[in-house]
Amino acid sequence: MKFPSLRPASISGRLALLYTLGALLAVGLFALLANWKLEANFTAAHQDFLQAKGAEFQDDLNEGGGAPNMLINEILKETDGARLRAYEARLMVAGKQVGETAGMRATLPAGLFPAAHGVENLTLTPYQTGDSSWLLTSLPLQGAQGQDGVVLQIGLDITRDEALLTDFHRALAVFFLLMVPLLLGAGRLAAAHALEPLARIAKVAQSITPAQLSRRIPLDPPWPRELTGLVQVFNQMLDNLESNFERLSRFSADIAHELRTPLSNLNGSLEVCLTRPRGEAEYRAAIASALEDGQRLTGLIENLLFLARVENPSHALRYERCEANEICAWVAAQYEAQSRPKGLCIRIDGTATLYVDTLLFRQAVGNVLANAVRHAPPDSEISLAISGGPAGVEIAIADQGPGIAPEHLPRLFDRFYQTDPARGHKVAQGSGLGLSIVRSILELHGGRAEIESTLGHETRVKLHFPSMQA
Ligand SMILES: Nc1ncnc2c1ncn2[C@@H]1O[C@H](COP(=O)(O)OP(=O)(O)OP(=O)(O)O)[C@@H](O)[C@H]1O
Ligand SMILES: [Mg+2]
Repeated sequence: MKFPSLRPASISGRLALLYTLGALLAVGLFALLANWKLEANFTAAHQDFLQAKGAEFQDDLNEGGGAPNMLINEILKETDGARLRAYEARLMVAGKQVGETAGMRATLPAGLFPAAHGVENLTLTPYQTGDSSWLLTSLPLQGAQGQDGVVLQIGLDITRDEALLTDFHRALAVFFLLMVPLLLGAGRLAAAHALEPLARIAKVAQSITPAQLSRRIPLDPPWPRELTGLVQVFNQMLDNLESNFERLSRFSADIAHELRTPLSNLNGSLEVCLTRPRGEAEYRAAIASALEDGQRLTGLIENLLFLARVENPSHALRYERCEANEICAWVAAQYEAQSRPKGLCIRIDGTATLYVDTLLFRQAVGNVLANAVRHAPPDSEISLAISGGPAGVEIAIADQGPGIAPEHLPRLFDRFYQTDPARGHKVAQGSGLGLSIVRSILELHGGRAEIESTLGHETRVKLHFPSMQA
């Protein structure tokens, strides 16, 4: 069977409960201490009284020459009048009762009293008769000529002391019963006051909708110290969400734009063919143009699918150990058909062992090399320099092309970003996704991609992979 949790579900409830328990514990400890001290004081007072009585009666016995009768008379005289402390006393000699205060036999028979051990360490036996409380003890006295066996039994009436203690306990119980709801109420109020800023944060957070993603939780007036960090993290999260949201919106708009151009070209060339009968050459040209647009669309969709796959958080990398120069040589061979007609020479220098997803690594190098091949002037050299060190492996791909203006450099890795804003319909022009795929692949590996360029001189893309993990 499952018992419901005793812990309140709300934070203010928990705080109030903790506060109440803490306060009750403190008050309880104080009450225990006060009670202990009170009881100890009473016990010490009783003991002192009985010891003083013992000494006093011993003196009385000595004064009477050790005759018990004199002492009895003295005791009766003393217990007769009004006294600060009421007590009953009985004198025993050799185990036989010699005298006692009136009525003692009925209330406190001799058999109830403990044995006499000495005045210094009294044995005190508590005893209850009806409404009265007693402390019973036996005191040994020295009789005539040092005669032993004279024992004084004293019953000290402690009813008033006990009543005082009972009153004290009752007052404590009432105090505790009143304290619980009071403390719970006060705790609730204090917790609600302390948690009020959270409600304010929640109210602002509630007003942040996709249409108002630029709203932030104000840091002024300052929040309590514990919440400032939370507010900052929340605002940071909103910054990230906003920029990602914007990127996604731009991405969708870009996709639509990219798809629209080749599709309208395609429609245009097909419509031209249909308006009136044409010669074979014209049909061929229209089909070739439509094919070009189809290829462009296919390439674009493939790139988009690849990006979506790579950027899917559940995408698992298939890490393999490989030699960077071998992979680069393989990729360079793939671009042979494009580079040879231009008279380009692709040079690979250096070597390093990599621990990467080789398929993605090939794609990254291929995308950078495709750009280099596209932009390099005829009969120039493209170099792939591989260098490995403790920080990781770097592959720098440089071409001697026209270079890129500095204002484009920060955005080159964005999706669909192209240096030439006029988007033509030629397959060779690309879609502006190549470098963003490179960045995604590098980020997946925990690395980074950088680009540096000197206008009219060269462009160099550096792929940095962190050091091997296995
Ligand atoms: N080596 C280079 N020299 C000059 N410009 C470059 C070079 N590499 C990239 N660029 C420019 O950077 C932009 C982005 O390149 P990216 O590879 O992302 O897209 P793309 O090559 O236009 O299209 P895709 O790679 O999808 O076919 C392009 O407009 C391109 O002109
Ligand atoms: Mg490219």
